[in-house]
Amino acid sequence: MKSRTPRSPFPAVTLRAPRLTLRPVADADAPALFAIFSDRDVMRYWSRPPMADPEEAVALVRDIQAGCARGEALQLAVERNGEGRAIGTCTLFHFHRASRRAELGYALARPHWGQGLMHEALTRLVGYAFGELGLNRLEADIDPRNAASARSLARLGFRKEGTLRERWIVGDEVSDSDLYGLLRTEWPPR
Ligand SMILES: CC(C)(COP(=O)(O)OP(=O)(O)OC[C@H]1O[C@@H](n2cnc3c(N)ncnc32)[C@H](O)[C@@H]1OP(=O)(O)O)[C@@H](O)C(=O)NCCC(=O)NCCS
Repeated sequence: MKSRTPRSPFPAVTLRAPRLTLRPVADADAPALFAIFSDRDVMRYWSRPPMADPEEAVALVRDIQAGCARGEALQLAVERNGEGRAIGTCTLFHFHRASRRAELGYALARPHWGQGLMHEALTRLVGYAFGELGLNRLEADIDPRNAASARSLARLGFRKEGTLRERWIVGDEVSDSDLYGLLRTEWPPR
């Protein structure tokens, strides 16, 4: 079967959900992304320390745009419909074209947690990944202590497939990873 996994570059994709829009990251998103990725609560279980300098967010925007242009990663800004300000990001990255798989990542600004928003955003992005992008498998790598993230994955139908010991060292902290997987045949969850 012919793979529909995108070659470079990604199309400028915009995905709509009931309360949210997922759209390409723009230069003007840097301050909003700095607010998200400098927050210690958001970054508690992240693979890098919180940002300390707004210039890091400017560099992140450049990296996101370059990754999209090269077809390596699709990182979309999440905004509430009609509000225009990024409140989070959702990402497909680590594409393996021949195996039609990619990894899923996500972060939401602290004031917006607990309203089912990331579930809504990820439902849309996972549907796009298995639909338009033709992927066969999605993976997620999370800190075993990240209960909200584990719950978000479980709600989407992801299964925990194993634990990788001492996989990350961020600052002084060494942490394990739980690896989750979701197959196209398991989507949508029953
Ligand atoms: C993970 C994250 C995106 C979830 O976003 P959210 O919009 O609040 O998630 P939702 O409201 O869609 O659902 C979260 C689920 O986790 C549950 N949850 C939230 N906080 C929790 C906690 N501390 N312990 C256990 N469960 C928790 C909620 O009850 C909900 O479960 P439910 O659907 O059964 O009610 C958000 O917490 C976040 O950005 N965290 C920081 C970044 C991060 O860790 N990203 C993942 C890295 S792999």
